[in-house]
Amino acid sequence: MSNEALIKSLNQALAFELRAEIMYAHYSAYVAGIHRLHLQPFFAAEAQESFTHASVVRGAIVKLGGVAVTERDQAPIKHTTDYREILEECLNTEKKAAETYGAILQILPDNDDELYDSLQQVFFAEQRSVEEITRLL
Ligand SMILES: [Fe+2]
Repeated sequence: MSNEALIKSLNQALAFELRAEIMYAHYSAYVAGIHRLHLQPFFAAEAQESFTHASVVRGAIVKLGGVAVTERDQAPIKHTTDYREILEECLNTEKKAAETYGAILQILPDNDDELYDSLQQVFFAEQRSVEEITRLL
């Protein structure tokens, strides 16, 4: 696997993180009703986590000599204040992220443990988010 193909996949993951950050910040602002009590802090924390993941992925791209994207993935972010609709959107986003990182782990060079470990941590975090949001629904 050439660095070029790997950098392309990492940039896709980075664009997903930039979208997720905006999505969670948006839902943190708009989630309404009694569930706002616990979901607003949850979404705010997920926005922060997406920011952190984006930093990790950007760092990996820099390390591999690539140019990191600055645009978010263009998939629309549905505006709603309904917590169930929001959670469905979040679950789809997290599943896609977990899938993307799972695929990236398969194509990482096997001579860089630090790179592998940092992206595996992100992969595990996405899997935990999928499990957590599935339990909320
Ligand atoms: Fe993430």
